[in-house]
Amino acid sequence: MTVNSKQESFTTSDGQHPVVHRSWKRPRPIIDYGEGIYLYDKDGKRYIDGSSGTSVVVNLGHGNLSIIEAMYEQAKRVAFASPHFFTNEPMLKLGQMILERAPGEMKNNCRSWFSCTGTDAVDDAVRLARQYAIANGKPSKYVVISRWQQFHGNQIGMAGVAGHTDRRKMLFPMFVNSPHIPPAYCYRCPFGDTYPVCNLKCAHALETEIHQIGEENISAFIAEPVVGASLGAIPTPEGYFEVIREICDRYGLLLIIDEVMTAWGRTGSWFAMDHYGVTPDIIATSKGFTGGYTPIAATIAREEIWQVIENSGAPFMAGHTLSENPPACAAAVATLTYIEEHDIINNSRETGAYLLERLHELDEFEIVGDVRGLGFMCGVEFVKNKKTKEPFPPGKKVSLLVMNEGIKRGLILFPCTGNIEGVAGDMILVTPPLITTRTQVDEIMAITSEAIAAAQTQLV
Ligand SMILES: Cc1ncc(COP(=O)(O)O)c(C=O)c1O
Repeated sequence: MTVNSKQESFTTSDGQHPVVHRSWKRPRPIIDYGEGIYLYDKDGKRYIDGSSGTSVVVNLGHGNLSIIEAMYEQAKRVAFASPHFFTNEPMLKLGQMILERAPGEMKNNCRSWFSCTGTDAVDDAVRLARQYAIANGKPSKYVVISRWQQFHGNQIGMAGVAGHTDRRKMLFPMFVNSPHIPPAYCYRCPFGDTYPVCNLKCAHALETEIHQIGEENISAFIAEPVVGASLGAIPTPEGYFEVIREICDRYGLLLIIDEVMTAWGRTGSWFAMDHYGVTPDIIATSKGFTGGYTPIAATIAREEIWQVIENSGAPFMAGHTLSENPPACAAAVATLTYIEEHDIINNSRETGAYLLERLHELDEFEIVGDVRGLGFMCGVEFVKNKKTKEPFPPGKKVSLLVMNEGIKRGLILFPCTGNIEGVAGDMILVTPPLITTRTQVDEIMAITSEAIAAAQTQLV
């Protein structure tokens, strides 16, 4: 592909772009095209998309013709038909594919509800838990217990459910605040303990919270199986979800798992929950579902839950104008088909393990405190003092510094902060597309290592 060198000018009279970007000051190159794991800007600079579109979206890389053609073919037939009147074939096919690949007891025992973004999917999961409680004759149940340092979406209601301090503060007076239990974060155990002698206090904390609030008021518990942007790729310790499942069952809570980041091969299995051998009641998912080619999200729930609502005679009280979008469903069908036909999950598991192994070489750096991950979902945490795990002062913006050093060298990594009580801590996500090869992992590692070395010189 050739680079389009003709640069049009898009500016206001003050010399600004006529749109609002996600940061005011950071220079923002115009993206031109992408091929595989690489992106090229209008000046011809090449970047490795080391975080798959910053946060785990572009799972199959750029320029995947199977997905593009599937969307095109569907849009040519019909691009939009009111979901109030019609169903459509790609959506039915997608539902069937999910049914056959769902984790544990959900396999062949679930139905999917489609929406547009990850936030929609989690919001719909929370709505579903509430509507289920009402339809099930338990209308006092509405509280969703969550965990600190989890993200569930960028919408006012979800800010109250999520435990991402920075994104909650401004909106605090505007949402219903969920109770939060501590995260399962062994590197900085909230109980000052060590796994496994800790006896998973972080999981048992759910029972304490239920006692405090009253089970009659609680509809669900929600968790990310590998905590993404808020903790920098923290997998769940073995045994955690067994304890959580047992507590949820004993007190009549639904278990909602937020797989917005982790599903569709990201962690080396269809769903991250496949690793833990525990079946949730509801799953929310999006991001890699179409590899970022177009928005789509799904809320997947056990058949029994839908049955209770269906038997109540009320429809599920959710939905957006562009939900159930036929080209988006066709893109997701093409994505899942490509994953299967090209053995992508295996690559995520094996080459992801190689990435994690190579990332451990970074342990040599004075500022690297911890390296962790599962499949192609890996993270690095930075510390000022390796022994005490003291973080850098937030003003140093260490994760941004590392990211900027990476970008200078042509690698995009996702910076994260707030892992320590929401106010301190620096991490980067290293989550390249699932098609990344071992040679490309070496390429990513060479730049990551240089970027951290450059940041360290400025810090120590
Ligand atoms: C775990 C998790 N849940 C939900 C969301 C919200 O998804 P979206 O940005 O598509 O609304 C995100 C987004 O980063 C996420 O990481």
